[in-house]
Amino acid sequence: MGDRPRRPRSAADGPEFASLTLDRRRFLVLLGGAAALRALEPSLAWAKRAATLPALQPWSLPAAIPAHPIEAARALIGAAILAPSYWNAQPWRFEVDTGELRLLLDAQRTLPLDDPDQRFAQMSLGAALENLLVAARAWGQQPSVRYLPWGTTSRPGSSLVVASVTWQPGDRARDRLLHSALTDRRSNARSYDGRAITMPNRSQLLAQVGEEARVHWLEDRSDVNAVADLVHDAVRVVMSDRAAQAERRAWLRGSDGDVREHGDGITSERLGLGGPAGWLSGRALHPQSRFYGWGTASMAKDMRDLVRSSGALALLTLPAPSEAGWIVGGQAYERFALRAATLGVAQQPLSAPVASLQHRAILARRFHADGEEPLLLVRLGHAKQPSPMPRRGVALVSTYRTS
Ligand SMILES: Cc1cc2nc3c(=O)[nH]c(=O)nc-3n(C[C@H](O)[C@H](O)[C@H](O)COP(=O)(O)O)c2cc1C
Repeated sequence: MGDRPRRPRSAADGPEFASLTLDRRRFLVLLGGAAALRALEPSLAWAKRAATLPALQPWSLPAAIPAHPIEAARALIGAAILAPSYWNAQPWRFEVDTGELRLLLDAQRTLPLDDPDQRFAQMSLGAALENLLVAARAWGQQPSVRYLPWGTTSRPGSSLVVASVTWQPGDRARDRLLHSALTDRRSNARSYDGRAITMPNRSQLLAQVGEEARVHWLEDRSDVNAVADLVHDAVRVVMSDRAAQAERRAWLRGSDGDVREHGDGITSERLGLGGPAGWLSGRALHPQSRFYGWGTASMAKDMRDLVRSSGALALLTLPAPSEAGWIVGGQAYERFALRAATLGVAQQPLSAPVASLQHRAILARRFHADGEEPLLLVRLGHAKQPSPMPRRGVALVSTYRTS
Protein backbone atom coordinates (compact mmCIF):
# COMPACT_ATOMS: atom_id res chain seq x y z
CA MET A 1 0.00 0.00 0.00
CA GLY A 2 1.47 3.31 -1.08
CA ASP A 3 1.61 6.47 1.11
CA ARG A 4 -1.17 8.88 0.47
CA PRO A 5 0.07 12.47 0.10
CA ARG A 6 -0.80 14.51 3.22
CA ARG A 7 -3.24 17.32 2.73
CA PRO A 8 -2.42 20.62 4.40
CA ARG A 9 -4.75 21.37 7.31
CA SER A 10 -7.42 23.98 6.73
CA ALA A 11 -10.37 25.55 8.48
CA ALA A 12 -12.46 23.15 6.47
CA ASP A 13 -11.18 20.42 8.77
CA GLY A 14 -13.87 21.52 11.20
CA PRO A 15 -14.04 22.90 14.68
CA GLU A 16 -12.92 19.66 16.42
CA PHE A 17 -9.41 19.96 15.09
CA ALA A 18 -9.02 23.62 16.05
CA SER A 19 -10.36 23.07 19.57
CA LEU A 20 -8.18 19.99 20.01
CA THR A 21 -5.02 22.06 19.28
CA LEU A 22 -6.13 24.75 21.69
CA ASP A 23 -6.97 22.26 24.42
CA ARG A 24 -3.64 20.56 24.11
CA ARG A 25 -1.84 23.88 24.28
CA ARG A 26 -3.87 24.95 27.26
CA PHE A 27 -3.28 21.56 28.83
CA LEU A 28 0.48 21.93 28.38
CA VAL A 29 0.43 25.46 29.79
CA LEU A 30 -1.55 24.27 32.78
CA LEU A 31 0.75 21.30 33.24
CA GLY A 32 3.81 23.56 33.11
CA GLY A 33 2.16 25.97 35.54
CA ALA A 34 1.37 23.18 37.98
CA ALA A 35 4.94 21.86 37.80
CA ALA A 36 6.35 25.35 38.34
CA LEU A 37 3.98 25.89 41.26
CA ARG A 38 5.11 22.64 42.79
CA ALA A 39 8.76 23.52 42.35
CA LEU A 40 8.14 26.93 43.92
CA GLU A 41 6.04 25.57 46.79
CA PRO A 42 8.76 25.73 49.46
CA SER A 43 9.77 29.27 48.57
CA LEU A 44 6.13 30.38 48.32
CA ALA A 45 5.47 28.94 51.76
CA TRP A 46 8.53 30.77 52.97
CA ALA A 47 7.40 34.01 51.31
CA LYS A 48 3.99 33.66 52.97
CA ARG A 49 5.67 33.14 56.34
CA ALA A 50 8.17 35.95 55.69
CA ALA A 51 5.24 38.34 55.32
CA THR A 52 4.29 37.64 58.95
CA LEU A 53 7.84 37.71 60.36
CA PRO A 54 8.91 40.73 62.38
CA ALA A 55 11.24 43.13 60.55
CA LEU A 56 14.69 42.67 62.08
CA GLN A 57 17.09 45.51 62.80
CA PRO A 58 20.33 45.47 60.78
CA TRP A 59 23.51 45.46 62.88
CA SER A 60 24.82 48.63 61.28
CA LEU A 61 24.56 52.37 61.97
CA PRO A 62 24.79 55.48 59.78
CA ALA A 63 28.11 57.37 59.83
CA ALA A 64 26.39 60.64 60.80
CA ILE A 65 23.07 61.71 62.31
CA PRO A 66 20.46 62.31 59.59
CA ALA A 67 19.42 65.94 59.09
CA HIS A 68 15.66 65.36 59.28
CA PRO A 69 14.50 65.28 62.95
CA ILE A 70 12.35 62.16 62.54
CA GLU A 71 15.15 60.33 60.73
CA ALA A 72 17.57 61.49 63.44
CA ALA A 73 15.26 60.01 66.12
CA ARG A 74 15.01 56.77 64.11
CA ALA A 75 18.79 56.53 63.89
CA LEU A 76 19.14 57.05 67.66
CA ILE A 77 16.52 54.37 68.35
CA GLY A 78 18.37 52.08 65.92
CA ALA A 79 21.46 52.45 68.13
CA ALA A 80 19.47 52.00 71.36
CA ILE A 81 17.92 48.65 70.38
CA LEU A 82 21.29 47.01 69.76
CA ALA A 83 21.64 47.01 73.57
CA PRO A 84 21.63 43.79 75.60
CA SER A 85 18.42 42.85 77.40
CA TYR A 86 17.37 40.26 79.93
CA TRP A 87 16.36 37.09 77.98
CA ASN A 88 16.67 39.22 74.84
CA ALA A 89 13.09 40.26 75.66
CA GLN A 90 13.78 43.84 74.47
CA PRO A 91 11.31 45.37 76.96
CA TRP A 92 11.44 48.81 75.34
CA ARG A 93 9.22 51.21 73.45
CA PHE A 94 10.06 54.65 72.13
CA GLU A 95 7.80 57.67 71.61
CA VAL A 96 9.04 60.56 69.53
CA ASP A 97 7.06 63.68 70.27
CA THR A 98 8.21 66.89 68.57
CA GLY A 99 11.88 66.88 69.47
CA GLU A 100 11.53 64.78 72.64
CA LEU A 101 12.32 61.06 72.64
CA ARG A 102 10.74 59.03 75.44
CA LEU A 103 11.93 55.58 76.46
CA LEU A 104 9.19 53.42 77.95
CA LEU A 105 9.09 50.06 79.68
CA ASP A 106 6.94 47.59 77.75
CA ALA A 107 5.24 45.64 80.54
CA GLN A 108 4.25 42.87 78.09
CA ARG A 109 7.94 42.08 77.74
CA THR A 110 8.83 41.79 81.41
CA LEU A 111 8.85 38.65 83.58
CA PRO A 112 6.66 39.53 86.61
CA LEU A 113 7.36 36.32 88.57
CA ASP A 114 11.01 35.99 87.68
CA ASP A 115 11.86 39.70 87.89
CA PRO A 116 9.18 41.04 90.29
CA ASP A 117 10.80 44.41 90.99
CA GLN A 118 11.69 44.78 87.26
CA ARG A 119 15.35 45.38 88.11
CA PHE A 120 16.64 43.41 85.12
CA ALA A 121 14.06 44.95 82.77
CA GLN A 122 15.02 48.46 83.93
CA MET A 123 18.72 47.64 83.59
CA SER A 124 18.02 46.55 80.01
CA LEU A 125 16.37 49.93 79.38
CA GLY A 126 19.36 51.63 80.98
CA ALA A 127 21.62 49.80 78.52
CA ALA A 128 19.42 50.95 75.61
CA LEU A 129 19.49 54.53 76.94
CA GLU A 130 23.30 54.45 77.14
CA ASN A 131 23.57 53.22 73.54
CA LEU A 132 21.33 56.09 72.46
CA LEU A 133 23.44 58.66 74.36
CA VAL A 134 26.72 57.22 73.05
CA ALA A 135 25.41 57.45 69.47
CA ALA A 136 24.12 61.01 69.98
CA ARG A 137 27.46 62.19 71.43
CA ALA A 138 29.52 60.43 68.74
CA TRP A 139 27.32 62.13 66.14
CA GLY A 140 28.28 65.53 67.62
CA GLN A 141 25.08 66.09 69.59
CA GLN A 142 24.67 67.17 73.18
CA PRO A 143 21.90 65.03 74.67
CA SER A 144 20.17 65.76 77.95
CA VAL A 145 18.19 63.19 79.98
CA ARG A 146 15.37 63.44 82.50
CA TYR A 147 14.98 60.18 84.43
CA LEU A 148 11.50 58.90 85.33
CA PRO A 149 9.93 62.22 84.23
CA TRP A 150 6.44 61.03 85.19
CA GLY A 151 7.48 59.35 88.45
CA THR A 152 8.30 55.78 89.43
CA THR A 153 4.88 54.21 88.93
CA SER A 154 3.15 53.81 85.62
CA ARG A 155 -0.34 55.30 85.48
CA PRO A 156 -3.14 52.78 84.88
CA GLY A 157 -3.21 51.79 81.23
CA SER A 158 0.08 53.50 80.46
CA SER A 159 3.69 52.36 80.51
CA LEU A 160 6.46 53.51 82.82
CA VAL A 161 8.35 56.36 81.18
CA VAL A 162 11.93 55.57 82.10
CA ALA A 163 13.62 58.56 80.51
CA SER A 164 13.01 61.53 78.29
CA VAL A 165 15.85 62.61 75.99
CA THR A 166 16.34 65.81 74.01
CA TRP A 167 19.43 66.80 72.02
CA GLN A 168 21.00 69.73 70.23
CA PRO A 169 24.17 70.13 68.19
CA GLY A 170 27.23 70.13 70.47
CA ASP A 171 30.66 71.70 70.03
CA ARG A 172 32.45 68.40 69.31
CA ALA A 173 31.94 64.64 68.90
CA ARG A 174 32.48 62.51 72.03
CA ASP A 175 32.33 58.79 72.89
CA ARG A 176 33.60 57.83 69.41
CA LEU A 177 35.42 54.77 70.77
CA LEU A 178 32.35 53.34 72.51
CA HIS A 179 30.28 54.19 69.44
CA SER A 180 32.58 52.05 67.31
CA ALA A 181 31.64 49.09 69.56
CA LEU A 182 27.83 49.48 69.38
CA THR A 183 27.60 46.95 66.54
CA ASP A 184 30.40 44.66 67.85
CA ARG A 185 29.34 44.16 71.47
CA ARG A 186 28.02 40.68 72.30
CA SER A 187 27.13 38.73 75.42
CA ASN A 188 29.53 35.83 75.03
CA ALA A 189 28.33 32.62 76.70
CA ARG A 190 31.20 30.49 75.38
CA SER A 191 33.77 28.83 77.59
CA TYR A 192 36.71 31.24 77.98
CA ASP A 193 40.34 30.17 77.66
CA GLY A 194 41.30 31.09 81.25
CA ARG A 195 43.73 33.84 80.21
CA ALA A 196 43.81 36.75 82.64
CA ILE A 197 42.68 40.27 81.78
CA THR A 198 45.77 42.47 81.48
CA MET A 199 46.27 45.31 83.97
CA PRO A 200 45.85 48.07 81.36
CA ASN A 201 42.61 46.49 80.12
CA ARG A 202 41.35 46.14 83.66
CA SER A 203 42.03 49.85 84.30
CA GLN A 204 40.23 50.82 81.09
CA LEU A 205 37.20 48.73 82.06
CA LEU A 206 37.02 50.07 85.61
CA ALA A 207 37.30 53.64 84.31
CA GLN A 208 34.02 53.29 82.40
CA VAL A 209 31.84 53.08 85.48
CA GLY A 210 31.04 56.57 86.76
CA GLU A 211 29.94 57.91 90.13
CA GLU A 212 26.49 56.38 90.42
CA ALA A 213 27.55 52.73 90.13
CA ARG A 214 30.63 50.81 91.32
CA VAL A 215 32.54 47.85 89.98
CA HIS A 216 34.49 45.31 92.06
CA TRP A 217 37.00 42.88 90.65
CA LEU A 218 38.18 39.31 91.45
CA GLU A 219 40.79 37.37 89.51
CA ASP A 220 42.49 35.15 92.02
CA ARG A 221 41.79 31.52 90.99
CA SER A 222 40.44 30.46 94.36
CA ASP A 223 38.09 33.50 94.43
CA VAL A 224 36.87 32.77 90.90
CA ASN A 225 36.20 29.14 91.82
CA ALA A 226 34.37 30.15 95.00
CA VAL A 227 32.08 32.47 92.99
CA ALA A 228 31.58 29.66 90.46
CA ASP A 229 30.24 27.46 93.29
CA LEU A 230 28.00 30.30 94.43
CA VAL A 231 26.61 30.70 90.89
CA HIS A 232 25.96 26.94 90.80
CA ASP A 233 23.91 27.12 94.01
CA ALA A 234 22.10 30.31 92.96
CA VAL A 235 21.05 28.75 89.64
CA ARG A 236 19.54 25.80 91.53
CA VAL A 237 17.59 28.13 93.83
CA VAL A 238 16.34 30.31 90.96
CA MET A 239 15.29 27.23 88.95
CA SER A 240 13.42 25.75 91.93
CA ASP A 241 10.64 28.32 91.35
CA ARG A 242 8.73 26.42 88.68
CA ALA A 243 6.13 29.16 88.06
CA ALA A 244 8.92 31.64 87.30
CA GLN A 245 10.59 29.01 85.11
CA ALA A 246 7.40 28.73 83.01
CA GLU A 247 7.72 32.47 82.42
CA ARG A 248 11.41 32.27 81.50
CA ARG A 249 10.78 29.34 79.20
CA ALA A 250 8.46 31.50 77.09
CA TRP A 251 11.63 33.34 75.96
CA LEU A 252 13.66 30.17 75.36
CA ARG A 253 13.83 29.36 71.64
CA GLY A 254 14.64 26.02 70.05
CA SER A 255 17.05 27.31 67.39
CA ASP A 256 18.65 30.43 65.93
CA GLY A 257 15.93 30.27 63.25
CA ASP A 258 13.26 30.48 65.96
CA VAL A 259 14.94 33.56 67.44
CA ARG A 260 14.92 35.17 63.98
CA GLU A 261 11.25 34.28 63.47
CA HIS A 262 10.25 35.85 66.79
CA GLY A 263 12.81 38.65 66.61
CA ASP A 264 13.52 38.06 70.32
CA GLY A 265 14.30 35.38 72.94
CA ILE A 266 17.39 33.22 73.29
CA THR A 267 18.56 29.66 72.66
CA SER A 268 20.03 27.40 75.34
CA GLU A 269 23.34 27.53 73.44
CA ARG A 270 23.45 31.31 73.76
CA LEU A 271 22.87 30.93 77.50
CA GLY A 272 25.98 28.75 77.61
CA LEU A 273 24.28 25.41 78.20
CA GLY A 274 26.35 22.67 76.61
CA GLY A 275 25.39 19.58 78.65
CA PRO A 276 22.04 17.75 78.81
CA ALA A 277 20.32 21.04 79.74
CA GLY A 278 21.45 22.34 76.36
CA TRP A 279 20.74 19.30 74.16
CA LEU A 280 17.37 18.64 75.73
CA SER A 281 16.44 22.17 76.73
CA GLY A 282 12.99 21.82 75.17
CA ARG A 283 12.23 19.10 77.71
CA ALA A 284 14.74 19.30 80.50
CA LEU A 285 14.02 22.97 81.19
CA HIS A 286 10.23 22.54 81.04
CA PRO A 287 9.02 22.98 84.62
CA GLN A 288 6.40 20.21 84.23
CA SER A 289 8.82 17.70 82.76
CA ARG A 290 9.96 14.67 84.73
CA PHE A 291 13.47 15.52 83.49
CA TYR A 292 13.33 18.95 85.10
CA GLY A 293 15.45 18.06 88.16
CA TRP A 294 18.06 16.62 85.84
CA GLY A 295 17.90 19.71 83.60
CA THR A 296 18.40 22.17 86.46
CA ALA A 297 21.32 20.15 87.89
CA SER A 298 22.94 20.10 84.46
CA MET A 299 22.37 23.84 83.95
CA ALA A 300 23.88 24.69 87.34
CA LYS A 301 26.98 22.61 86.50
CA ASP A 302 27.32 24.25 83.07
CA MET A 303 27.18 27.70 84.65
CA ARG A 304 29.78 26.72 87.26
CA ASP A 305 32.15 25.50 84.52
CA LEU A 306 31.68 28.69 82.52
CA VAL A 307 32.49 30.88 85.52
CA ARG A 308 35.57 28.73 86.26
CA SER A 309 36.83 29.32 82.72
CA SER A 310 36.84 33.11 83.26
CA GLY A 311 39.99 35.24 83.44
CA ALA A 312 38.33 37.61 85.94
CA LEU A 313 34.95 38.46 87.45
CA ALA A 314 33.39 41.87 87.99
CA LEU A 315 30.50 42.75 90.25
CA LEU A 316 28.53 45.85 89.39
CA THR A 317 26.84 47.48 92.39
CA LEU A 318 24.99 50.57 93.50
CA PRO A 319 26.57 52.18 96.55
CA ALA A 320 23.04 52.81 97.83
CA PRO A 321 19.57 52.18 96.40
CA SER A 322 18.16 55.13 94.44
CA GLU A 323 15.03 55.84 92.40
CA ALA A 324 16.67 55.52 89.02
CA GLY A 325 19.34 53.12 90.33
CA TRP A 326 18.62 50.21 88.02
CA ILE A 327 18.49 52.47 84.98
CA VAL A 328 21.85 54.12 85.72
CA GLY A 329 23.18 50.68 86.68
CA GLY A 330 22.19 49.40 83.22
CA GLN A 331 23.95 52.41 81.67
CA ALA A 332 27.12 51.64 83.64
CA TYR A 333 27.00 47.98 82.61
CA GLU A 334 26.62 48.94 78.94
CA ARG A 335 29.62 51.31 79.00
CA PHE A 336 31.60 48.50 80.61
CA ALA A 337 30.44 45.99 77.95
CA LEU A 338 31.14 48.39 75.07
CA ARG A 339 34.64 49.12 76.36
CA ALA A 340 35.24 45.37 76.72
CA ALA A 341 34.25 44.97 73.04
CA THR A 342 36.81 47.61 71.99
CA LEU A 343 39.52 45.73 73.93
CA GLY A 344 38.65 42.31 72.49
CA VAL A 345 37.59 41.11 75.96
CA ALA A 346 34.64 38.68 76.05
CA GLN A 347 32.00 39.22 78.72
CA GLN A 348 28.74 37.65 79.86
CA PRO A 349 26.41 39.13 82.50
CA LEU A 350 25.02 36.62 85.00
CA SER A 351 21.87 37.50 86.88
CA ALA A 352 21.13 34.33 88.89
CA PRO A 353 23.32 35.15 91.94
CA VAL A 354 21.61 38.57 92.12
CA ALA A 355 18.11 37.19 91.50
CA SER A 356 18.49 34.75 94.39
CA LEU A 357 18.04 36.92 97.50
CA GLN A 358 19.98 34.56 99.71
CA HIS A 359 22.99 34.64 97.36
CA ARG A 360 22.92 38.39 96.69
CA ALA A 361 24.39 39.28 100.09
CA ILE A 362 26.98 36.47 99.95
CA LEU A 363 28.02 37.72 96.52
CA ALA A 364 28.54 41.26 97.83
CA ARG A 365 30.64 39.91 100.71
CA ARG A 366 32.79 37.80 98.35
CA PHE A 367 33.63 40.96 96.39
CA HIS A 368 34.25 42.99 99.58
CA ALA A 369 31.23 45.11 98.74
CA ASP A 370 29.21 44.60 101.94
CA GLY A 371 26.27 46.93 102.26
CA GLU A 372 26.19 47.75 98.53
CA GLU A 373 23.40 46.71 96.19
CA PRO A 374 24.62 44.05 93.66
CA LEU A 375 23.28 44.63 90.15
CA LEU A 376 25.03 42.09 87.90
CA LEU A 377 27.89 39.64 88.03
CA VAL A 378 29.96 39.80 84.84
CA ARG A 379 32.42 37.11 83.81
CA LEU A 380 35.32 38.21 81.63
CA GLY A 381 37.83 36.41 79.47
CA HIS A 382 38.78 35.50 75.93
CA ALA A 383 36.78 33.46 73.42
CA LYS A 384 35.63 33.59 69.81
CA GLN A 385 33.02 36.26 69.18
CA PRO A 386 29.47 34.90 68.63
CA SER A 387 27.16 36.13 65.86
CA PRO A 388 24.76 39.00 66.69
CA MET A 389 21.39 38.21 68.25
CA PRO A 390 18.31 39.34 66.29
CA ARG A 391 16.46 42.49 67.33
CA ARG A 392 12.94 43.64 66.45
CA GLY A 393 13.35 46.58 64.10
CA VAL A 394 12.88 50.29 64.86
CA ALA A 395 9.46 50.47 63.17
CA LEU A 396 8.06 47.83 65.54
CA VAL A 397 9.12 49.58 68.73
CA SER A 398 8.59 53.26 68.01
CA THR A 399 5.78 55.76 67.41
CA TYR A 400 6.08 59.31 66.11
CA ARG A 401 4.07 62.48 66.62
CA THR A 402 4.87 65.73 64.92
CA SER A 403 2.96 68.95 65.62
C1 LIG B 1 20.07 42.94 82.93
C2 LIG B 1 20.59 41.81 82.08
C3 LIG B 1 20.72 40.55 82.65
C4 LIG B 1 21.22 39.50 81.88
N1 LIG B 1 21.39 38.26 82.44
C5 LIG B 1 21.92 37.25 81.73
C6 LIG B 1 22.17 35.97 82.31
O1 LIG B 1 21.89 35.75 83.49
N2 LIG B 1 22.73 35.01 81.54
C7 LIG B 1 23.05 35.24 80.23
O2 LIG B 1 23.55 34.33 79.56
N3 LIG B 1 22.82 36.43 79.64
C8 LIG B 1 22.28 37.43 80.35
N4 LIG B 1 22.06 38.66 79.78
C9 LIG B 1 22.46 38.86 78.36
C10 LIG B 1 21.28 38.65 77.41
O3 LIG B 1 20.97 37.30 77.32
C11 LIG B 1 21.68 39.22 76.04
O4 LIG B 1 21.84 40.60 76.17
C12 LIG B 1 20.65 38.99 74.97
O5 LIG B 1 20.48 37.63 74.72
C13 LIG B 1 21.03 39.67 73.65
O6 LIG B 1 22.30 39.23 73.20
P1 LIG B 1 23.52 40.25 73.02
O7 LIG B 1 23.81 40.85 74.36
O8 LIG B 1 24.66 39.39 72.52
O9 LIG B 1 23.12 41.29 72.04
C14 LIG B 1 21.56 39.72 80.52
C15 LIG B 1 21.41 41.00 79.98
C16 LIG B 1 20.94 42.04 80.74
C17 LIG B 1 20.81 43.42 80.13
